Amino acid sequence: MRTPPSETPTHAAVALVPTRPAHLAELSTWFRTERACREWGGPSFRFPFDAASFRADTRYDEIPSYSLQPVGADVLLGFGQYYLRNGRCHFARLAIAPDHRGRRLGVELVNRLAAVGRADLRVSACSLFVLAANVPALRLYERLGFIRTPWPEDAPRLEGGLYMVQEAVIALPRETDR
Ligand SMILES: CC(C)(COP(=O)(O)OP(=O)(O)OC[C@H]1O[C@@H](n2cnc3c(N)ncnc32)[C@H](O)[C@@H]1OP(=O)(O)O)[C@@H](O)C(=O)NCCC(=O)NCCS
Repeated sequence: MRTPPSETPTHAAVALVPTRPAHLAELSTWFRTERACREWGGPSFRFPFDAASFRADTRYDEIPSYSLQPVGADVLLGFGQYYLRNGRCHFARLAIAPDHRGRRLGVELVNRLAAVGRADLRVSACSLFVLAANVPALRLYERLGFIRTPWPEDAPRLEGGLYMVQEAVIALPRETDR
């Protein structure tokens, strides 16, 4: 299922597809330490995990889960989920395969997941939680226009956690369209 980093596909050649149970086994190999696992999965994600606890703690059977793949190949490049929270499309458990990080595939993952999730939930804004110490994730989200926003009152406090919101990008009509 793995592709060498030299074979990271170009951005136009990736697609977002519903996650199949077989993808979870590959996904679970991306998190080798408790810290990496909790940084990604949240403070209550069980570690070490087994196949059953991993599936339960990702809430795979409860919320929409999507995989980023090269077009036409069953290789897992990325993973992400969404659900409705405070009227926004809230992302959970976003990740890019370790061998393919740092190549802007995160942008593809988030943009494509946002398009699916906003249409499904009929909302215009997106949100997510991230640990302030997770610099690669923070840089990705800031690049995508996510803004640090006061922590939601209904959410359990998360030490070092940030709540970020991306308002919808409204396309203005071009001069020629008027
Ligand atoms: C956060 C994550 C999804 C970003 O995906 P990505 O495709 O690597 O994102 P980008 O290519 O835009 O790189 C983001 C930042 O990662 C850093 N980076 C670069 N190469 C990297 C590498 N090989 N490995 C890890 N991070 C790298 C850089 O700081 C980069 O920002 P910059 O180029 O603006 O300085 C990915 O790092 C990941 O899966 N992390 C583990 C899971 C996780 O923490 N998820 C987020 C939970 S909120």
